[in-house]
Amino acid sequence: MKRTILVIGGTVLITVSALLACNSSQQPVAHANEGIEYGPKVASLSSDELVARGRYLVTIMGCNDCHSPKVMTPQGPAPDSAHLLSGHPAKMPLAAIDPKATKDWILFNQSLTAFAGPWGVSFAANITSDASGIGNWTEEQFFRAMREGKYKGMEGGRPMLPPMPWQQFKHATDEDLRAIFSYLKATPAVDNVVPAPLPPKS
Ligand code: HEC
Repeated sequence: MKRTILVIGGTVLITVSALLACNSSQQPVAHANEGIEYGPKVASLSSDELVARGRYLVTIMGCNDCHSPKVMTPQGPAPDSAHLLSGHPAKMPLAAIDPKATKDWILFNQSLTAFAGPWGVSFAANITSDASGIGNWTEEQFFRAMREGKYKGMEGGRPMLPPMPWQQFKHATDEDLRAIFSYLKATPAVDNVVPAPLPPKS
């Protein structure tokens, strides 16, 4: 897992260096969100506006890419609108994985909800308002999950597995995280108990 994180970190560094190379007058930035002007302070938004901003952020931050089961279209997999953000479907069969195939590669299933790599197999979580999702979570749990990568947002929770990009999302402002959480709490509840991750095969 360490290696994966290093690889992801390396990609970010290369991208940042490429950007800096284009604009040599700029100093390297310590944090992804340093110096960026944010939109309206959501503290002044009504609860409907907060949910709308959360929906917008969830859309542009790609949460559906992993957290929504897909239907196959001529253009490839697209989010299943009846089960948005409900995670890897509990009943979806998982094709056998050749351990040799994950030696140098990371594999995504066709629904883009199950992921095999050096960490074993991880499954995208249910993040709808259902009790099997984040329905019973407090805002504090959500912040801990997104900022510290703790499963279920519990203080003693296990580290969140790849490819959940919490290392990037932790740079979101408090206001943006609050908006995302408000939207997730307002999503239609989908009952789906996502399977526990599988350990790596030796
Ligand atoms: C590249 C795939 C990917 C993307 C994009 C992604 N996630 Fe995840 N997410 C995962 C996986 C996989 C897990 C489960 C990790 C585990 O089991 O340790 C997860 C777990 C979570 C959890 C923890 C759930 C729990 O029960 O503990 C939350 C909350 C979450 N994601 C929110 C989001 C939000 C909000 C977004 C968009 C802003 C997002 N994720 C985008 C893959 C992704």
